[in-house]
Amino acid sequence: MELLNGKETFFAIREELTEKVNSLKQQGRRAPHLAAILVGGFGPSITYVNAKVKDCERIGFGSSLIELPADVTEEALLEKVNELNNNPEVDGFIVQLPLPKHINENNIIEAINPKKDVDGFHPVNVGKMVLGLPSFVPATPYGIVEMLDRNNIETEGKHCVVIGRSNIVGTPMSILLSRKANPGNCTVTLVHSRTKDLASYTKQADILIAAIGKAHFVKADMVKDGAVIVDVGIHRIEDTTKKSGYRLIGDVDFDEVSKKCSHISPVPGGVGPMTRAGLLLNTMRAYEAK
Ligand code: GUN
Repeated sequence: MELLNGKETFFAIREELTEKVNSLKQQGRRAPHLAAILVGGFGPSITYVNAKVKDCERIGFGSSLIELPADVTEEALLEKVNELNNNPEVDGFIVQLPLPKHINENNIIEAINPKKDVDGFHPVNVGKMVLGLPSFVPATPYGIVEMLDRNNIETEGKHCVVIGRSNIVGTPMSILLSRKANPGNCTVTLVHSRTKDLASYTKQADILIAAIGKAHFVKADMVKDGAVIVDVGIHRIEDTTKKSGYRLIGDVDFDEVSKKCSHISPVPGGVGPMTRAGLLLNTMRAYEAK
């Protein structure tokens, strides 16, 4: 079994981007700039957004974090989105999800200028992705495709089973891997919470992408010998042996499944860092497209 070491791949991408930024600065050009809007204090969102901002600083991108209170009105948030749409110094921005219940997420996503939508959530970018046109691709599936590619995982002709149909991961993942492209050219099956006899599909997977959001959902008897396993899940569970009092686990029962598969991405250190890489790559692309 080989680990799909997302952390190492992320470091390599970070290094490449740092070199690009240095070369831009040497030419007297400004660096790419990513902005992030964070509404309220939803725990994991704060951690994720801070990591994104820190990544920018580390590679020399400009970054701004706009923090709004949890009770901000939809109008005030739309105004902020518009400001960023019109700010020539900002190449791309994200609105961290989930948003408080009183705000309609679709209204916010649709207000983002698709050319600055480095999350790839705007319907224009989703539509272009489905059509195979150049577009921003959501950071997690983008990062996974990069991870497969940079670890020389052959995808052509393989049966890929995606567990989960979220707009952020499962659905775009299924589209990207079925595209006529490399990586791509997979036969894709998308299964979800309403699929009957889900294991009968996962057992057929050459490449299994677990993005169902349930801790240790994928067990060894659901996996074919020699499969490539990508674990998108991230869950905190209590662990009194750790200083923090918890540890992170994925959607895959790593200890069981790793004995059976050819490759597996660990949690933490797999898809998480690759998601961060996807966002940085998208921001560079937004800058370059200007
Ligand atoms: N919440 C969880 N993942 C994401 C992401 O990739 N982008 C945004 N904006 N919010 C998220």
